[in-house]
Amino acid sequence: MVKLLSLYAYNFKKLRFDEPLRFSDGVTLISGLNEAGKSSILDAILYALYARVIRPPPEKGKTRNEDIIAYGASKATVVLEFAVGDKRYRVSREIKRSGKPRANLDEILADNSLKPLAVGQEKVTEQIEAILGGITFNELVSSTVVAQKELNKLIELRKEDRKKIINVFLNLESFNIVLENLEEQKRELEGTKERPGRLRVEKEKLESLREELEEYLKKKKEREDLVEERMKLLKNIEKTEAEYAEAEKLYKMLQEYDEFLNRRQKLELEIEGKRKQLETLRKQRETLLKNIENTESDMHRYRDLHLVEKELESLSKEYQQLVTLEHQIGEAREAETRLGIQVRSLEQQLPPSAKATALRRPSIRPFAAGAAASIIIAFILLFIGSVLPALLFLAAGVVFLIIVFQRVSRLSRMMVLQETLARLEQAREMHATARATLRNLIQNHSVKTSYLKNAFSSLPRYGELFQQKLVEGLPKAVEAVLQQAEKDRQELNDLKSKLDAYREQLKNLPAEHELNQVESEIHSLGEQLEGVRLPTLSPGLEFSRDVLEEARKRVQQLAENIQAYRTRTELLSQLVLELEEWLRAHGDVEQRYSEQLAVVANLERELAVVRKAVEAIQATAEALRNRVKPLVAAHMGIILPALTNNRYKAAILDDDYRLQVWDPDAGQYRVKEVFSGGTEDQMLLAMRLAFALALLPEAKGQKPEFVFLDEPLGSSDEVRRSGIIEYIAIDLAKKFSQIFIISHVGGLEEHVNHIIRLHEGKVVETV
Ligand SMILES: Nc1ncnc2c1ncn2[C@@H]1O[C@H](COP(=O)(O)OP(=O)(O)OP(=O)(O)O)[C@@H](O)[C@H]1O
Ligand SMILES: [Mg+2]
Repeated sequence: MVKLLSLYAYNFKKLRFDEPLRFSDGVTLISGLNEAGKSSILDAILYALYARVIRPPPEKGKTRNEDIIAYGASKATVVLEFAVGDKRYRVSREIKRSGKPRANLDEILADNSLKPLAVGQEKVTEQIEAILGGITFNELVSSTVVAQKELNKLIELRKEDRKKIINVFLNLESFNIVLENLEEQKRELEGTKERPGRLRVEKEKLESLREELEEYLKKKKEREDLVEERMKLLKNIEKTEAEYAEAEKLYKMLQEYDEFLNRRQKLELEIEGKRKQLETLRKQRETLLKNIENTESDMHRYRDLHLVEKELESLSKEYQQLVTLEHQIGEAREAETRLGIQVRSLEQQLPPSAKATALRRPSIRPFAAGAAASIIIAFILLFIGSVLPALLFLAAGVVFLIIVFQRVSRLSRMMVLQETLARLEQAREMHATARATLRNLIQNHSVKTSYLKNAFSSLPRYGELFQQKLVEGLPKAVEAVLQQAEKDRQELNDLKSKLDAYREQLKNLPAEHELNQVESEIHSLGEQLEGVRLPTLSPGLEFSRDVLEEARKRVQQLAENIQAYRTRTELLSQLVLELEEWLRAHGDVEQRYSEQLAVVANLERELAVVRKAVEAIQATAEALRNRVKPLVAAHMGIILPALTNNRYKAAILDDDYRLQVWDPDAGQYRVKEVFSGGTEDQMLLAMRLAFALALLPEAKGQKPEFVFLDEPLGSSDEVRRSGIIEYIAIDLAKKFSQIFIISHVGGLEEHVNHIIRLHEGKVVETV
């Protein structure tokens, strides 16, 4: 029998009591305006008992300190005294914004002294739960708190959540917890949209292990294939190496043969070359000797040339003198002619009497003196003034002057004649000398000419030529002889230099003993050639360059093949090593895969178990809920008419836990939503009360004596309101000794036993 005795709350939400608020039996109205702190009283009581409140809903099962400590305050205090049977208890809790909360549970003894029972939040809560006979927070709330506002939630929820609320009403909280745990387990295994479940994670691991295993098996197979290929290759190498040795032997044999052939060919060519060289040299020598002989015989023809040349030289000089003589004759003849002409022209210039005239010299002096004396006298007479005599003398003087002038001109002519006569004489003499000189020269010339003709005609080598050409004149004949002599000299010189050149060439040719040396070399080469023996080839094998080339190519090809096989073998070994390393590193994959397979199988089994458990619990809860349903319906049958002024009388909960009410007008059950809003609220209140009554945890040995009805009248009209109050005061009072009606609706005072008036979190009146 649990009863509430008193409550002290300070800085608990809005509540700031000056002193503890005492609770009495009977119906108590907690009134006040909105937000006065009415509902907070219920929260303060629940917090004192369980350290939890209804509003705001706890997070992770716990009420947060800051949600209940009054804004601006650093700590909240709540002290509740309650009685269970005849024992009284006092629980006090002090919650701080920072720091550990303080909690004490004491028993109030008869002398009002305190007996500590528990200290610390959890301990105190545990102890209270024990004292209450195991009634939990949810059980207490579902059976003793009829909060109109909470009911509305029921309407809006999904079916599953509605079931959960019903579970809470049905005290199936433990079912909920187990279900939630199981669902958490299920979620953990199956995963959600946001996070993958363990099963998926492990399945993914299994998948990746499966892939790894597949790769492992693939690589294992790969390694086997590679090892096999390597073995084959090694065999191939062995086979090819044998072929290579064979081919190389053949190639070497052919190569040797080829070398011998080449050597023989080279020797033959060498011999041939030397022979040709020797032959050429010999020919050259013979030709040179012949040329020398010929040239010498040609030169023999000019053996007297040097003797003739001397004579020719002196004759040539003589001939030059003759030419000079001829020039002199020309010049003398020219002078003789010129002088003859000069003599004749002078002779013509002189008149026949020239000689006599030249000898008579005229006298000038007496006439010159007469002229001078006459003029002087004339001037004297003029001076003394005897003009006439003066004029006579002047005239005589003029006559004398004229005579003087005539005589002077005759004298000059006479002097010219005398000079010309002298020149004529001189010219005659020179002419005679020139004629004599000319005669001499002509004589010399004819002597020299006949001498030269004889001398040239009797010249050896050229006398004949001279005589032949003499018909064209001496100069032509002399010129022909000189030209021929010059030509011969040239010819002889040419022959000489030719001979020198031949001799020089002969000197440059190898000497006979050297040629003999070459001959002996040829001989020894011949012997070497004799010694060169061609190697014998295998029977059926015929040598040719093509065969040799083919053998070379085959050797090369085989060597390349061997190399390629070896490279591939090395690569294979490398690959095999890498694979083996990988396989070693992943050697436990089969083991890991089978382990993971077991892990996944276990998880799957676990999930199946969880699913089964959920099903089972749901089925059990369903069965329990179904058991309560008729009880709730029975209570509803009593409560509903009381609350609705007998308008509605019967109600049931359908399979989905929705309330259906018998509508007398409709003559059938209808879901509550079709009724008016106020009626719907009354129906919900009836349902909540029916649940509370049906679920009172009497079975646990303790039964709460109190019930809180939070705003039960909000939307009821006056008639129904009084019906509800009546029901509470008469019928409900039979079940609960303490009924607290929280309401801000006026006019209830006369129906209740006590009134607690609140304003701004403070108790302003208690009646
Ligand atoms: N930690 C807190 N500190 C101070 N005030 C708080 C705290 N938490 C809630 N409140 C205030 O307490 C008041 C709520 O009190 P309560 O729910 O008890 O009101 P009420 O009297 O039941 O009102 P109504 O009739 O509207 O239901 C609100 O004004 C709310 O803002
Ligand atoms: Mg309220």
